[in-house]
Amino acid sequence: MEITAETAAILLESIEQTSETFLITDQEGSVIYVNPAFEKVTGYSSAEILGKTPKILKSGEHPLEFYKEMWETILAGRKWSGRITNRRKNGTLYTDAVRISPVLGHDGKPRYFLVLRHDIARELQLEAQLNQSQKMESLGQLASHISHDFNNLLTIIIGSMELIEEDLKPGSVGARLTSEILRSSKESASLIKQLMVFARKHENNPVKTTLNDPLSELKILLDGLLGKNVSVTYSLDERLYLANIEPEHFKQAVMNLVINAKDAVNDSGGIMIKTYNAGPAGLPPSLPEGTYAVFEISDTGPGIPKEVLPSIFDPFFTTKPKGKGTGLGLSTVYGIVTQNKGHIFASNRPDGGAIFTVYFPAVK
Ligand SMILES: Nc1ncnc2c1ncn2[C@@H]1O[C@H](COP(=O)(O)OP(=O)(O)OP(=O)(O)O)[C@@H](O)[C@H]1O
Ligand SMILES: [Mg+2]
Repeated sequence: MEITAETAAILLESIEQTSETFLITDQEGSVIYVNPAFEKVTGYSSAEILGKTPKILKSGEHPLEFYKEMWETILAGRKWSGRITNRRKNGTLYTDAVRISPVLGHDGKPRYFLVLRHDIARELQLEAQLNQSQKMESLGQLASHISHDFNNLLTIIIGSMELIEEDLKPGSVGARLTSEILRSSKESASLIKQLMVFARKHENNPVKTTLNDPLSELKILLDGLLGKNVSVTYSLDERLYLANIEPEHFKQAVMNLVINAKDAVNDSGGIMIKTYNAGPAGLPPSLPEGTYAVFEISDTGPGIPKEVLPSIFDPFFTTKPKGKGTGLGLSTVYGIVTQNKGHIFASNRPDGGAIFTVYFPAVK
């Protein structure tokens, strides 16, 4: 096809206006063109990057061999594609699917390299959520096996100790030790019971209800629990869709989330509880299409560190000092939410503070 000055102008205008990013380098790798979309994604203006190499975007996330293999491929005149994590001007990282196509001269050697990227933030988020749900599934199975057998063993231990206790002289060393063993065994049994909630091995009798009702019932209890220095604000949507949930279990989940928030704000700060309707548009990508009644709790604490976020729902994961937390709170919440066909997400508010969002499918 003959390219006229007019088509060339149209091409340029399209490239300048598209939301896809374009970067072109010469054969040495010096940047000779970036389009406005590129400037927007990276934060670098074209003046800042022209004449430099794309190395200024280097994140340090890839080993040297990664770049070596890439260069070998494109210098040989072949296309390269893969995922690259780069660093924006403001220091934050982003990961893209990138394709580099050599533009060959008459001699068949690369003269320019055209770098196109594809935004995969959504895919990455989906992948992470899939990994998370697979992990929770296998942990759930493990917990289910262990808790079941362990619970049976504990029942035997507790039953036998109670019989032994009857035979012992009150106040004797044996009796004191027996009551200590009984106390520990019962504590273990209550731990196991919580684990069974996570493993979804317990009765669930859902009823059609609005989340606002169990939340209102909790209000008084929460005010007492939280003390003067922690304020709870409620914003409950009066036209909230109904959901099929077990109210008592939902309350237990909320309690666990509130206690975590209280710990996070270090006994002084704010907790926000919200309900609202969501969907069909604007849902997190991993949610099945539909409408949802949403419960959200956020706090003014420091938030959840990025490296901790993938583990918080794991049974026995805790960042609290020994003897303070068992790490079963959020795994219990996760068990309750999934057993009630809900979905839970944890993230941080832009201004700090953790935010937990729970979606329950709306029912008519
Ligand atoms: N609101 C929050 N803000 C910051 N970090 C949180 C918040 N909620 C939970 N976390 C983190 O998640 C971890 C796991 O929470 P989880 O409720 O499962 O266990 P725990 O609170 O440590 O112990 P337990 O609830 O068994 O007493 C916490 O140790 C904490 O690091
Ligand atoms: Mg907790």
